[in-house]
Amino acid sequence: MAMVSMRQVLDEAAKGGYGVGAFNVNNMEQIQAIMEAARETNSPAIVQASRGARSYTNDRFLYHLMMAATELYPEIPLVLHQDHGNSPETCKSAIEMGFTSVMMDGSLMADGKTPADFEYNVRVTREVVDMAHERGVTVEGELGCLGGIEDGHGADVDALAHLTDPDQAVEFVERTGIDALAVAIGTSHGAYKFSKKPDGEVLIMSRIDEIHAKLPNCHMVMHGSSSVPQELQDIINKYGGQMKQTYGVPVEEIQRGIRSGVLKINVATDSRMAITGAIRKVFVEHPEHFDPRDYLKPARNAMKEVVKARMISFGQAGHAGDYQAIPLSEIAKQYKGQLVSA
Ligand code: 13P
Repeated sequence: MAMVSMRQVLDEAAKGGYGVGAFNVNNMEQIQAIMEAARETNSPAIVQASRGARSYTNDRFLYHLMMAATELYPEIPLVLHQDHGNSPETCKSAIEMGFTSVMMDGSLMADGKTPADFEYNVRVTREVVDMAHERGVTVEGELGCLGGIEDGHGADVDALAHLTDPDQAVEFVERTGIDALAVAIGTSHGAYKFSKKPDGEVLIMSRIDEIHAKLPNCHMVMHGSSSVPQELQDIINKYGGQMKQTYGVPVEEIQRGIRSGVLKINVATDSRMAITGAIRKVFVEHPEHFDPRDYLKPARNAMKEVVKARMISFGQAGHAGDYQAIPLSEIAKQYKGQLVSA
């Protein structure tokens, strides 16, 4: 199957009442892990690449690895999404390279650090929507700011100080015409989200309910959604790592979000931890090994298991065969006929 529009995948998820994980990648093994997890669970798949990932893979490797994925896994509806585009230019280059979905993160200025004002966010996001929809490409916008810095992107703000305002969200979706809205509810990127198991004081799931009440047809996105499982922290530390005790977003909270309109769930850290734990284990148990396959195979397998578990708990498992890809040219025509998200 050719790569599909994220809008199509999210529309189907909305109909089916399930969420879809969006997993970050930087290399071949991570793409393979996601594709194998998707095949084993019969799930649609969203692969996403940050600016850092695009520069690490020099874009062309990423593109051709994704082409290989569509050839080798023709039964899997597959989206390639630009994570945290910092400017219309970044989104434009992603679209030109073949991404079927882009995030214009106008919640921050183009430096990827400084919180932006609402009018700037509306302006740059609208600009990307106009450019992307003409080619049938999906656009995710963000309102409010997450905490934490990932791949050099992030304001490192107090996650609770920049939550998404539900009334502003209505105006933002209306004025930009985005397909999906990333909401800030107290999460942050990376492993160090919470100092204890989060409760409603720090992880504001009720904000999702409030936004959903005002925008019942809006496809919401949860960023910073790694669960940072204790067992992965323990494996890393058992084999020489030095992670401080930390807590992520419990899977049951994500499931609660899915029941209130969250359709895309971003996960990067859990995959990284699974990979790191597996590699550390091989290095400690087999210091005599030096063939990269000896540690990259277990690493790939460990990531596959995490991704599979998430695909099952988000509900996307079993849904790969529900639909045929609509060509982007057809989606572009639908946008002209005013395909709207809210
Ligand atoms: P985590 O760091 O929680 O995996 O979040 C990733 C993310 O939101 C990417 O945009």
